[in-house]
Amino acid sequence: MIYILYAVLYGLHIAIPFSIRTEWTVLIVIALLRAVLKLGEQRTNHYIAFTLLAIIRDRVFQALRRLCPTKLEGRDKGDLISLITSDVELLEVFYVHTISPICIAFLVELIMVIFIGSYYWSLGLLALAAFVCVGVILPVIISKRSGNLGDELRADNGELATYMLESIRGLDETIQYGGGEKRLQNLTKKTIELSEKQSRLNKLTGVNLALANTFILFFDIAMLALSSVLYSRGDIGFDGLLIPLVALMSSFGPVTALANLGTTLQATVASGARVLAVIDEEPEIEDITGKKEIDFSGASLENVTFSYGGDTVLNNLSLTFPENKIIGIVGRSGCGKSILLKLLMRFWRANTGKVSVSDVSVEEINTANLCDMESYMTQETQLFKDTIAGNIRIGRLDASQEEIEDACKKASIHDFIMTLPKGYETKVGELGETLSGGERQRIGLARAFLHDAPFMLLDEPTSNLDSLNEAVILRSLKEEAQDKTVILVSHRISTVRIADEVIGMDEGRVS
Ligand SMILES: Nc1ncnc2c1ncn2[C@@H]1O[C@H](COP(=O)(O)OP(=O)(O)OP(=O)(O)O)[C@@H](O)[C@H]1O
Ligand SMILES: [Mg+2]
Repeated sequence: MIYILYAVLYGLHIAIPFSIRTEWTVLIVIALLRAVLKLGEQRTNHYIAFTLLAIIRDRVFQALRRLCPTKLEGRDKGDLISLITSDVELLEVFYVHTISPICIAFLVELIMVIFIGSYYWSLGLLALAAFVCVGVILPVIISKRSGNLGDELRADNGELATYMLESIRGLDETIQYGGGEKRLQNLTKKTIELSEKQSRLNKLTGVNLALANTFILFFDIAMLALSSVLYSRGDIGFDGLLIPLVALMSSFGPVTALANLGTTLQATVASGARVLAVIDEEPEIEDITGKKEIDFSGASLENVTFSYGGDTVLNNLSLTFPENKIIGIVGRSGCGKSILLKLLMRFWRANTGKVSVSDVSVEEINTANLCDMESYMTQETQLFKDTIAGNIRIGRLDASQEEIEDACKKASIHDFIMTLPKGYETKVGELGETLSGGERQRIGLARAFLHDAPFMLLDEPTSNLDSLNEAVILRSLKEEAQDKTVILVSHRISTVRIADEVIGMDEGRVS
């Protein structure tokens, strides 16, 4: 704009500081450079931002891995998903659309203030006031006015998504107990609240834009007035009247970009805080490495006490699990059977007492070593979106097809898999939730058999099975136990009957 103005001044026979040839050359070079620099700015910004994002994501995933399983147990999964997706995404906005615009605005406006000030010092001061107003004071006011509306919007959005998911998952229960109408009302209420908040945010953005434009107009007029006065007093020439005015009018771009930041700033900072909170959180259990590798030779608990918060679950419990034996564990629901297995896996840490494997405290065994020695079958089998074979191969990643089939035969699931259209290559995703509870359980068992560790920890392995399948599995277990130690947690008498010893647990003690 300024160089075009120089051309106009030249046309009006007013002296300009350089020849008209230089003027045209500079004009063309600037026009071309503008395009190249704009592209360069975007590319650099995005390169830096996405590199940083990759690092942040990596850090977040590392943190989540450190925190699992204990610190993630019981945490709102919807919130975790928002953290990994939208919070990290918002940081991209921060790096691309916040940091560099601030730097650009600072640099460009500084040059403009000096340039305008070179015509007359008070014009420079006025330009400075204009830039500070639009680029600093206005965004701060806007950010205060919008408060944590952006953050609330994110939270509400997550909550609505969770409610929707929960409603779909709990469809059967909702229909059975006639809760459809109530759910629909809640859904409508949440949606309306969300859209009201969104429209409040939109209104704020609109008002902000109007405010910024008003400020800009005001300063343009002030500049015209001031330069007119200076011109009439003869302090500046005609070029001094025109050029600072046009320079000011055409240089608000970088600071208006800052004014627009106001509404998102607090939400971005809140996202950053959440990401940092997860990265900084101390894990309950750290991975252990660098210890001597050991072989399995029995396990034991000595005077172990464990509690969640204030509730004691295990109370001074002592047990031994000798080699090549099946130990059955029975006890009422909630007496701490599952937690006993988790302590042996070192998923949790005992408050007092000692949990040992091969006479070494689990605190002194490499995590990978411990996982290799133990085949832990959880009470609920989690299936992943993969083929049946892929789902079972989780037990041992380098297992051959033959080994997988062998494990499935032991778990009494091979015949069922063979009836599926694509056999072992059937996608579990396609089956969705159509696999029955017993089928899932047997897939979990097949994983444990495939893992082929000397110490098997089975949490209710037969609770969903008919007696025919149970018999096949118990026979396999009996065979395995010739060179393996098995802990069999079960409510079923028919299952624990194969145990060499049955331990009854009550109130966290052996009964
Ligand atoms: N993450 C947790 N936070 C707080 N309390 C927990 C947590 N996990 C389990 N509990 C509590 O600890 C107690 C023991 O749980 P555990 O899962 O070991 O019971 P269980 O004997 O396996 O029961 P079931 O036979 O029903 O499987 C229960 O009262 C349970 O509510
Ligand atoms: Mg349990």
